[in-house]
Amino acid sequence: MELSKFFKPWISDVSPYIPGKMSEGFIKLASNENDYGPSEKVIAAIKDKAGDIFRYPYKDELVKEKISKYCGNLIKPENIILGNGSDELIELIIKIFQSPYMGFYPSFVEYNRVSKIFNEIYYEIPLNDDFTFNCEKFINDEKFEKARVVFLCSPNNPTGGIIDRRDIEKILKFNKVVVVDEAYYEFSNLTSLDLTGEYENLIVLRTMAKAFGIAGLRMGYGIANKEIIKFLHKVKPPFNVNCLAQEAALAALDDIAFMKQNVEKVLNSRKILGDILSRKFKVFESYTNFLFIDVSPYTAKEFFEDLYEKKIIVRPFGKLDGFKGEYIRITVGTEKENEILTDAIEGIF
Ligand SMILES: Cc1ncc(COP(=O)(O)O)c(C=O)c1O
Repeated sequence: MELSKFFKPWISDVSPYIPGKMSEGFIKLASNENDYGPSEKVIAAIKDKAGDIFRYPYKDELVKEKISKYCGNLIKPENIILGNGSDELIELIIKIFQSPYMGFYPSFVEYNRVSKIFNEIYYEIPLNDDFTFNCEKFINDEKFEKARVVFLCSPNNPTGGIIDRRDIEKILKFNKVVVVDEAYYEFSNLTSLDLTGEYENLIVLRTMAKAFGIAGLRMGYGIANKEIIKFLHKVKPPFNVNCLAQEAALAALDDIAFMKQNVEKVLNSRKILGDILSRKFKVFESYTNFLFIDVSPYTAKEFFEDLYEKKIIVRPFGKLDGFKGEYIRITVGTEKENEILTDAIEGIF
């Protein structure tokens, strides 16, 4: 049987998402997780509710109420949708809106990858050479006029930089849907959330995978105008957020102090790591729990392999189209992990 005749032809061009490498006994600093892990309250809640997994999840509304409170009651539960990670919300957005879509490069790969899966058009406009965002260049590009949905990752993965709020507002004033991906919000404290009331074309995406330390449970949320939320719900798979993820989210949102304390520690470690790396390499300004580094004259592969020998896993990007360096992304781990990492870096490079 010739299976190739049955596949959707454009899927052959789609690359699977490649997660950060993970090996037992290694320090993994490749996926921007929070290595302090979740609050004890989260672990207790999951254990306590483990026996309830025979039921379909039913606590969406409670989780939305807690998120609304976490967001300072700026938004109502009816303006929130929950996702199986914010990854799923990117997919739902692409399901409901017509293309072309547009973002900048380099940025989070899923916008482009999911567009390919749905055989839709995704334009990428390069960032400046120093990975800052040039709003004029972006909005004056001929593709911008055609784009119906714009993905702005701020703070941006993998570069760590942000888009100025004035630029976000400038883009919102065009007749387009604007998605601001705030996966790293807690590390920057900068948000466009308050603009959702004013701009009906704005969607803000957040996740509990990073600062809240529950990446493995897959819990993200989107905030937008009621009409957009209604459409997203039309295409959402039933029971997309599982019951233990709901319990974990509720418990995590009851322990904001724990999350904030870890964010503080990560920001301190980021400063220490950044100072050490800057002696040898170009380190880009970060508003996240990771650093983006040009490791030339080493190649990203060499840098990765040297640390791998010391049982530390970072994320090698290598060369990026149109940019000159050799790029690596390193997640900031715990204080202890950071000591081991900085000792290794000082020993090797
Ligand atoms: C910018 C950005 N958006 C979304 C995600 C996906 O987050 P989640 O784990 O909630 O699917 C990530 C994960 O790395 C990310 O970096």
